[in-house]
Amino acid sequence: MTLPGHPHVAYHGDTLHLDDLPLDDLAARFGTPLYAYSRRAMLEALAGYQRALAGREHLICYAMKANSNLAVLQTFARSGCGFDIVSGGELQRVLAAGGDAARVVFSGVGKTRAEMAQALQAGVACFNVESEGELEALNEVACGHGARARVSLRVNPDVDAKTHPYISTGLKGNKFGIAHDRALAVYRRAAGLPGLEVVGIDCHIGSQITQAEPYLDALDRVLDLVEAVEAAGIALPHLDLGGGLGIRYTDEQPPAAEALVGAMLARIDARGHGRRKILLEPGRSLVGNAGVLVTQVQYLKSGGDKNFCIVDAAMNDLMRPAMYEAWMDIVATRRGTAPVQTYDVVGPVCESGDWLGRERRLAVQPGDRIAVLSAGAYGMSMASNYNTRGRAAEVMVDGAEAWLIRDREAPAELFRGEHLLP
Ligand code: LLP
Repeated sequence: MTLPGHPHVAYHGDTLHLDDLPLDDLAARFGTPLYAYSRRAMLEALAGYQRALAGREHLICYAMKANSNLAVLQTFARSGCGFDIVSGGELQRVLAAGGDAARVVFSGVGKTRAEMAQALQAGVACFNVESEGELEALNEVACGHGARARVSLRVNPDVDAKTHPYISTGLKGNKFGIAHDRALAVYRRAAGLPGLEVVGIDCHIGSQITQAEPYLDALDRVLDLVEAVEAAGIALPHLDLGGGLGIRYTDEQPPAAEALVGAMLARIDARGHGRRKILLEPGRSLVGNAGVLVTQVQYLKSGGDKNFCIVDAAMNDLMRPAMYEAWMDIVATRRGTAPVQTYDVVGPVCESGDWLGRERRLAVQPGDRIAVLSAGAYGMSMASNYNTRGRAAEVMVDGAEAWLIRDREAPAELFRGEHLLP
């Protein structure tokens, strides 16, 4: 029985599997907490985007902040993806994973000059510029290197993505992008700077978006600008529509990538822009439902009004519940005989905010394992070492095969770079 929204996670009999492997076996082999990902699930998610874009000049730039493990990057690079990066560190990861800098777009509001130089030297496809100050800085860095930086302006279309305020980015009050009414003037400036070459326009309005309308509204606003900018004699060969498509955590019903992208392309064509190269920057929708976090129950404890299920994963391993009050499904890896109870699932970190799920019906006893679903995106990539906890191990599964793709971090590694006073 597969779980709704998670075609690669299923109970076979009483045991929960990822692809063809029991999660308990993976946990016994690699320990807990453990992030496990299905390569097939990632490639199927990608295929939806690829089908929609077939026959068109395009580049899918995986937003690697969602999950930047080298094996994940390698998987997407081998399938022809480029990458959306937001730091020099992410660029180094792309190169280490065998990715091609010429298929990289560099986003982010605070690129340093050192990062600009690094990306220019590597030969990234495009800088998504988010402010006038950044434009001037990039021009200086490029001129200093005798290079021309390819740029796109990230415009803020001022539409409501109807998602959590912390992950909404396309409203006027957000720090992201160049205001719609400034964009033409900034394009004029960009076109006049010797170190820059304008190659496109982009927008990204938020994350975990579950409806098509905000995308189509933003697209219309961006196409209005495209027409104004080109009327001013500045060509915009590519259109980067960002990422942000949501996934199912509980009962969300986001459009399928293929349908959403199809609808956007139809709008682009209807407005006579069909010849433009299309870039997309999906993150969560490529990896989110491909991953689970497996953790072991340490203790069950009754605290008056509440029952607590204390597990060996914590907020440092999976920050989303603590940070956004995100709801992520939690299921037992084995359907056992323990009585069903309502628990708050919490970790060992010394914070009341350290919880993975609240009020969950679970039939577990100490020693059992549970899996947090949809943990492939913004799970490991946001993990920290708070409480001097080494980060979890990661495995990639494909059918009945599993490969360790990141060692569990040992405590001594955590203070390796620290120094005692003389
Ligand atoms: N492009 C840009 C410029 C972005 O800022 C982001 C995500 C993406 C693409 C990819 O968006 P996605 O397809 O993954 O929604 N930590 C939060 C999500 C933060 C998203 C930040 N930007 C969470 O766990 O929900």
